[in-house]
Amino acid sequence: MIFPDYRPRRLRQNKSFRRMISETRLSIDDLILPLFVIEGKNVKNPIPSMPGHYQLSIDNLVKTVKEASGLGIPAVILFGIPDKKDPLGTGAYAKNGIVQKAVKAVKDRVSDILVITDVCLCGYTDHGHCGMIDKQLVDNDASLDLLARTALSHAKAGADMVAPSDMMDGRVAEIRQILDENNFSNTPIMSYAAKYCSSYYGPFREAAGSSPQFSDRSTYQMDPANSIEAIREASMDIEEGADIIMVKPALSYLDIICRIREEIDLPVAAYNVSGEFSMIKAAAEKGWIDEKKVMMETLLSIKRAGADMILTYFALDAAEELRNK
Ligand code: PBG
Ligand code: ZN
Repeated sequence: MIFPDYRPRRLRQNKSFRRMISETRLSIDDLILPLFVIEGKNVKNPIPSMPGHYQLSIDNLVKTVKEASGLGIPAVILFGIPDKKDPLGTGAYAKNGIVQKAVKAVKDRVSDILVITDVCLCGYTDHGHCGMIDKQLVDNDASLDLLARTALSHAKAGADMVAPSDMMDGRVAEIRQILDENNFSNTPIMSYAAKYCSSYYGPFREAAGSSPQFSDRSTYQMDPANSIEAIREASMDIEEGADIIMVKPALSYLDIICRIREEIDLPVAAYNVSGEFSMIKAAAEKGWIDEKKVMMETLLSIKRAGADMILTYFALDAAEELRNK
Protein backbone atom coordinates (compact mmCIF):
# COMPACT_ATOMS: atom_id res chain seq x y z
CA MET A 1 0.00 0.00 0.00
CA ILE A 2 1.73 3.07 -1.20
CA PHE A 3 0.77 6.62 -2.10
CA PRO A 4 -1.03 7.60 -4.30
CA ASP A 5 -2.87 4.23 -4.52
CA TYR A 6 -3.45 4.30 -0.82
CA ARG A 7 -4.40 7.51 0.98
CA PRO A 8 -4.90 7.15 4.74
CA ARG A 9 -6.63 10.52 4.75
CA ARG A 10 -9.63 9.01 2.93
CA LEU A 11 -10.79 7.46 6.18
CA ARG A 12 -10.13 10.59 8.20
CA GLN A 13 -12.13 13.02 6.11
CA ASN A 14 -15.08 13.36 8.45
CA LYS A 15 -16.25 12.47 11.91
CA SER A 16 -18.32 9.48 10.82
CA PHE A 17 -15.39 7.80 9.07
CA ARG A 18 -13.20 8.54 12.05
CA ARG A 19 -15.75 7.07 14.44
CA MET A 20 -16.04 3.96 12.33
CA ILE A 21 -12.32 3.20 12.29
CA SER A 22 -11.55 4.23 15.84
CA GLU A 23 -9.60 1.39 17.50
CA THR A 24 -9.79 2.41 21.12
CA ARG A 25 -12.69 3.59 23.20
CA LEU A 26 -12.48 5.02 26.66
CA SER A 27 -15.52 4.25 28.77
CA ILE A 28 -16.80 5.20 32.20
CA ASP A 29 -16.58 1.46 32.90
CA ASP A 30 -12.77 1.76 32.80
CA LEU A 31 -12.45 4.28 35.61
CA ILE A 32 -11.49 3.80 39.25
CA LEU A 33 -11.42 6.87 41.52
CA PRO A 34 -8.79 7.06 44.29
CA LEU A 35 -9.93 8.86 47.46
CA PHE A 36 -8.25 9.88 50.71
CA VAL A 37 -10.11 9.44 53.98
CA ILE A 38 -9.22 11.05 57.30
CA GLU A 39 -10.62 11.03 60.86
CA GLY A 40 -13.06 13.74 61.94
CA LYS A 41 -16.36 15.26 60.85
CA ASN A 42 -17.03 17.61 57.99
CA VAL A 43 -13.35 17.69 57.05
CA LYS A 44 -12.40 18.55 53.49
CA ASN A 45 -8.72 19.53 53.49
CA PRO A 46 -7.59 20.54 50.02
CA ILE A 47 -4.45 18.77 48.79
CA PRO A 48 -2.42 21.65 47.34
CA SER A 49 -0.57 19.67 44.68
CA MET A 50 -3.73 17.82 43.58
CA PRO A 51 -6.39 20.44 42.80
CA GLY A 52 -9.91 19.07 43.24
CA HIS A 53 -8.74 16.36 45.67
CA TYR A 54 -9.14 16.43 49.44
CA GLN A 55 -8.51 14.57 52.63
CA LEU A 56 -12.14 13.72 53.35
CA SER A 57 -13.77 12.75 56.61
CA ILE A 58 -16.14 9.81 56.28
CA ASP A 59 -19.28 11.97 55.93
CA ASN A 60 -17.75 13.87 53.00
CA LEU A 61 -16.25 10.70 51.57
CA VAL A 62 -19.72 9.18 51.37
CA LYS A 63 -20.92 12.24 49.43
CA THR A 64 -18.09 11.95 46.91
CA VAL A 65 -18.63 8.21 46.46
CA LYS A 66 -22.33 8.91 45.84
CA GLU A 67 -21.34 11.40 43.18
CA ALA A 68 -19.03 8.83 41.57
CA SER A 69 -21.77 6.21 41.67
CA GLY A 70 -24.23 8.67 40.13
CA LEU A 71 -21.86 9.20 37.23
CA GLY A 72 -21.61 5.45 36.67
CA ILE A 73 -18.05 5.00 37.89
CA PRO A 74 -17.74 1.31 38.83
CA ALA A 75 -15.23 1.57 41.68
CA VAL A 76 -13.32 3.72 44.13
CA ILE A 77 -10.07 2.87 45.91
CA LEU A 78 -9.59 4.15 49.45
CA PHE A 79 -6.43 5.39 51.14
CA GLY A 80 -6.56 6.05 54.88
CA ILE A 81 -4.87 8.78 56.88
CA PRO A 82 -4.77 7.64 60.52
CA ASP A 83 -4.55 9.88 63.59
CA LYS A 84 -1.57 8.01 65.00
CA LYS A 85 1.39 6.18 63.50
CA ASP A 86 3.71 3.65 65.10
CA PRO A 87 6.57 1.33 64.07
CA LEU A 88 4.25 -1.58 63.26
CA GLY A 89 1.55 0.42 61.48
CA THR A 90 -1.13 -0.97 63.79
CA GLY A 91 -3.67 1.52 62.43
CA ALA A 92 -3.58 -0.35 59.13
CA TYR A 93 -5.18 -3.48 60.59
CA ALA A 94 -7.14 -2.01 63.51
CA LYS A 95 -10.76 -3.12 63.61
CA ASN A 96 -11.79 0.50 64.06
CA GLY A 97 -9.13 1.93 61.75
CA ILE A 98 -9.97 4.79 59.44
CA VAL A 99 -10.27 2.67 56.29
CA GLN A 100 -12.27 -0.03 58.06
CA LYS A 101 -14.78 2.56 59.29
CA ALA A 102 -14.87 4.26 55.91
CA VAL A 103 -15.54 1.03 54.02
CA LYS A 104 -18.39 0.19 56.35
CA ALA A 105 -19.96 3.64 55.98
CA VAL A 106 -19.68 3.65 52.20
CA LYS A 107 -21.01 0.11 51.80
CA ASP A 108 -23.94 0.94 54.09
CA ARG A 109 -24.85 4.16 52.34
CA VAL A 110 -23.91 3.93 48.68
CA SER A 111 -25.05 1.30 46.24
CA ASP A 112 -23.81 0.25 42.83
CA ILE A 113 -20.16 0.99 43.38
CA LEU A 114 -17.27 -1.24 44.38
CA VAL A 115 -15.04 -0.29 47.26
CA ILE A 116 -11.43 -1.33 46.75
CA THR A 117 -8.90 -0.81 49.54
CA ASP A 118 -5.20 -0.13 49.20
CA VAL A 119 -3.35 -2.58 51.41
CA CYS A 120 -0.08 -1.16 52.68
CA LEU A 121 1.62 -0.02 55.86
CA CYS A 122 3.43 3.17 54.77
CA GLY A 123 0.57 5.50 55.71
CA TYR A 124 0.44 3.95 59.19
CA THR A 125 4.10 3.46 60.14
CA ASP A 126 6.05 6.28 61.81
CA HIS A 127 9.04 5.47 59.57
CA GLY A 128 6.88 5.66 56.42
CA HIS A 129 8.02 2.37 54.89
CA CYS A 130 5.64 -0.18 53.38
CA GLY A 131 6.85 -2.97 55.67
CA MET A 132 8.33 -3.55 59.11
CA ILE A 133 11.79 -2.24 59.92
CA ASP A 134 14.52 -4.40 61.39
CA LYS A 135 18.02 -2.90 61.74
CA GLN A 136 17.20 -0.04 59.36
CA LEU A 137 16.05 -2.54 56.69
CA VAL A 138 12.55 -3.37 55.49
CA ASP A 139 12.00 -6.95 56.68
CA ASN A 140 10.08 -8.80 53.98
CA ASP A 141 8.88 -11.93 55.76
CA ALA A 142 8.03 -10.19 59.03
CA SER A 143 5.79 -7.78 57.10
CA LEU A 144 3.67 -10.46 55.42
CA ASP A 145 1.52 -11.24 58.43
CA LEU A 146 0.76 -7.55 59.04
CA LEU A 147 -0.19 -7.04 55.40
CA ALA A 148 -2.40 -10.13 55.44
CA ARG A 149 -4.10 -8.93 58.63
CA THR A 150 -4.67 -5.54 56.98
CA ALA A 151 -6.31 -7.16 53.96
CA LEU A 152 -8.48 -9.37 56.17
CA SER A 153 -9.63 -6.41 58.27
CA HIS A 154 -10.65 -4.60 55.09
CA ALA A 155 -12.59 -7.63 53.86
CA LYS A 156 -14.31 -7.94 57.23
CA ALA A 157 -15.31 -4.28 57.01
CA GLY A 158 -16.96 -5.05 53.67
CA ALA A 159 -14.33 -4.22 51.04
CA ASP A 160 -15.23 -5.63 47.62
CA MET A 161 -11.59 -6.07 46.61
CA VAL A 162 -8.18 -5.60 48.22
CA ALA A 163 -5.18 -4.09 46.46
CA PRO A 164 -1.76 -4.73 48.04
CA SER A 165 0.68 -1.97 47.05
CA ASP A 166 3.59 -2.78 49.36
CA MET A 167 5.75 -4.82 46.95
CA MET A 168 6.87 -7.34 49.58
CA ASP A 169 7.64 -10.72 48.02
CA GLY A 170 4.99 -13.35 48.74
CA ARG A 171 2.29 -11.06 50.04
CA VAL A 172 -0.35 -12.06 47.51
CA ALA A 173 -0.14 -15.71 48.61
CA GLU A 174 -0.31 -14.72 52.25
CA ILE A 175 -3.35 -12.49 51.63
CA ARG A 176 -5.11 -15.13 49.50
CA GLN A 177 -4.60 -17.70 52.23
CA ILE A 178 -5.89 -15.59 55.11
CA LEU A 179 -8.92 -14.48 53.06
CA ASP A 180 -9.75 -18.06 52.12
CA GLU A 181 -9.40 -19.26 55.69
CA ASN A 182 -11.87 -16.64 56.83
CA ASN A 183 -14.62 -17.23 54.29
CA PHE A 184 -13.56 -14.48 51.92
CA SER A 185 -12.68 -16.75 49.03
CA ASN A 186 -14.86 -14.51 46.84
CA THR A 187 -12.86 -11.36 47.59
CA PRO A 188 -10.55 -10.68 44.66
CA ILE A 189 -6.99 -9.34 44.89
CA MET A 190 -5.86 -6.55 42.61
CA SER A 191 -2.11 -6.74 42.89
CA TYR A 192 0.19 -3.80 42.36
CA ALA A 193 2.43 -6.28 40.56
CA ALA A 194 4.72 -4.03 38.53
CA LYS A 195 5.07 -1.06 40.82
CA TYR A 196 8.08 1.06 40.09
CA CYS A 197 10.21 3.11 42.44
CA SER A 198 8.97 6.37 40.96
CA SER A 199 9.25 10.05 41.77
CA TYR A 200 5.77 10.52 40.32
CA TYR A 201 4.31 9.51 43.70
CA GLY A 202 5.38 12.81 45.30
CA PRO A 203 1.97 14.54 45.53
CA PHE A 204 0.34 11.35 46.84
CA ARG A 205 2.86 11.08 49.65
CA GLU A 206 2.10 14.65 50.61
CA ALA A 207 -1.64 13.88 50.54
CA ALA A 208 -1.33 10.65 52.52
CA GLY A 209 1.59 11.70 54.72
CA SER A 210 3.36 8.48 53.73
CA SER A 211 6.89 9.54 52.78
CA PRO A 212 9.69 7.28 54.00
CA GLN A 213 11.52 8.97 56.89
CA PHE A 214 14.89 7.52 55.87
CA SER A 215 16.30 6.20 52.60
CA ASP A 216 13.80 5.35 49.81
CA ARG A 217 11.69 2.47 48.48
CA SER A 218 14.24 1.14 45.98
CA THR A 219 14.83 -2.10 47.91
CA TYR A 220 11.23 -3.18 47.30
CA GLN A 221 9.74 -1.17 44.43
CA MET A 222 11.00 -1.94 40.92
CA ASP A 223 13.85 -0.25 39.10
CA PRO A 224 12.41 1.97 36.30
CA ALA A 225 15.03 0.49 33.97
CA ASN A 226 13.44 -2.96 34.00
CA SER A 227 10.68 -4.54 31.93
CA ILE A 228 11.44 -8.29 31.79
CA GLU A 229 11.26 -8.20 35.56
CA ALA A 230 7.72 -6.82 35.33
CA ILE A 231 6.66 -10.06 33.63
CA ARG A 232 8.31 -12.06 36.39
CA GLU A 233 6.59 -9.99 39.10
CA ALA A 234 3.21 -10.37 37.38
CA SER A 235 3.71 -14.13 36.88
CA MET A 236 4.59 -14.61 40.53
CA ASP A 237 1.53 -12.71 41.67
CA ILE A 238 -0.69 -14.74 39.37
CA GLU A 239 0.68 -18.00 40.78
CA GLU A 240 0.06 -16.64 44.26
CA GLY A 241 -3.58 -15.91 43.43
CA ALA A 242 -3.87 -12.38 42.05
CA ASP A 243 -7.04 -11.65 40.05
CA ILE A 244 -6.03 -8.34 38.47
CA ILE A 245 -2.50 -7.21 37.64
CA MET A 246 -1.61 -3.56 38.03
CA VAL A 247 1.14 -1.51 36.41
CA LYS A 248 2.12 1.71 38.17
CA PRO A 249 2.77 4.50 37.21
CA ALA A 250 1.10 4.52 33.81
CA LEU A 251 2.55 7.15 31.49
CA SER A 252 6.28 6.51 31.69
CA TYR A 253 5.41 2.81 31.67
CA LEU A 254 3.06 2.46 28.70
CA ASP A 255 5.48 -0.09 27.24
CA ILE A 256 5.10 -2.18 30.40
CA ILE A 257 1.30 -2.00 30.18
CA CYS A 258 1.51 -3.11 26.55
CA ARG A 259 3.86 -5.99 27.35
CA ILE A 260 1.87 -7.20 30.33
CA ARG A 261 -1.33 -7.06 28.26
CA GLU A 262 0.31 -9.23 25.60
CA GLU A 263 1.93 -11.75 27.88
CA ILE A 264 -0.49 -12.05 30.81
CA ASP A 265 -3.99 -13.53 30.64
CA LEU A 266 -5.60 -11.56 33.47
CA PRO A 267 -7.30 -8.16 33.49
CA VAL A 268 -4.70 -5.37 33.56
CA ALA A 269 -5.07 -2.19 35.58
CA ALA A 270 -2.92 0.91 35.21
CA TYR A 271 -2.45 3.57 37.85
CA ASN A 272 -2.34 7.09 36.43
CA VAL A 273 -0.53 8.35 39.53
CA SER A 274 -0.57 11.60 41.44
CA GLY A 275 2.45 13.23 39.77
CA GLU A 276 0.96 12.51 36.35
CA PHE A 277 -2.25 14.20 37.45
CA SER A 278 -0.49 17.17 39.06
CA MET A 279 1.62 17.92 36.01
CA ILE A 280 -1.46 18.24 33.82
CA LYS A 281 -3.23 20.37 36.44
CA ALA A 282 -0.22 22.65 36.81
CA ALA A 283 0.25 23.18 33.08
CA ALA A 284 -3.48 23.80 32.68
CA GLU A 285 -3.44 26.35 35.50
CA LYS A 286 -0.74 28.22 33.66
CA GLY A 287 -2.88 28.15 30.53
CA TRP A 288 -0.27 26.14 28.68
CA ILE A 289 -2.51 23.20 27.75
CA ASP A 290 -6.21 22.47 27.35
CA GLU A 291 -6.88 20.43 30.50
CA LYS A 292 -9.95 18.49 29.35
CA LYS A 293 -8.40 17.52 26.02
CA VAL A 294 -5.07 16.53 27.51
CA MET A 295 -6.87 14.55 30.21
CA MET A 296 -8.90 12.59 27.66
CA GLU A 297 -5.90 12.01 25.38
CA THR A 298 -3.85 10.80 28.33
CA LEU A 299 -6.49 8.34 29.53
CA LEU A 300 -7.02 7.13 25.97
CA SER A 301 -3.29 6.47 25.61
CA ILE A 302 -3.33 4.28 28.73
CA LYS A 303 -6.29 2.36 27.33
CA ARG A 304 -4.62 2.00 23.94
CA ALA A 305 -1.48 0.66 25.59
CA GLY A 306 -3.64 -2.19 26.88
CA ALA A 307 -5.09 -1.28 30.25
CA ASP A 308 -8.52 -2.74 30.96
CA MET A 309 -9.05 -0.29 33.79
CA ILE A 310 -7.45 2.95 34.93
CA LEU A 311 -7.05 4.26 38.44
CA THR A 312 -7.10 8.01 37.96
CA TYR A 313 -7.65 11.21 39.93
CA PHE A 314 -9.42 12.44 36.79
CA ALA A 315 -12.18 9.84 37.13
CA LEU A 316 -15.00 12.26 38.03
CA ASP A 317 -14.08 14.79 35.33
CA ALA A 318 -13.52 12.09 32.72
CA ALA A 319 -16.84 10.43 33.53
CA GLU A 320 -18.53 13.80 33.14
CA GLU A 321 -16.88 14.27 29.73
CA LEU A 322 -17.77 10.76 28.58
CA ARG A 323 -21.37 11.24 29.65
CA ASN A 324 -21.78 14.47 27.74
CA LYS A 325 -20.13 13.14 24.60
C1 PBG B 1 1.34 3.09 49.04
C2 PBG B 1 0.92 3.70 47.75
C3 PBG B 1 1.56 4.73 47.04
C4 PBG B 1 0.74 5.01 45.95
C5 PBG B 1 -0.33 4.12 46.01
N1 PBG B 1 -0.19 3.31 47.12
C6 PBG B 1 2.76 5.53 47.35
C7 PBG B 1 4.08 4.89 47.38
O1 PBG B 1 4.27 3.73 47.05
O2 PBG B 1 4.99 5.60 47.83
C8 PBG B 1 1.00 6.08 44.92
C9 PBG B 1 -0.20 6.64 44.25
C10 PBG B 1 -0.01 7.93 43.54
O3 PBG B 1 1.09 8.51 43.45
O4 PBG B 1 -1.01 8.40 43.01
N2 PBG B 1 2.30 2.10 48.92
ZN1 ZN C 1 3.26 1.63 50.94
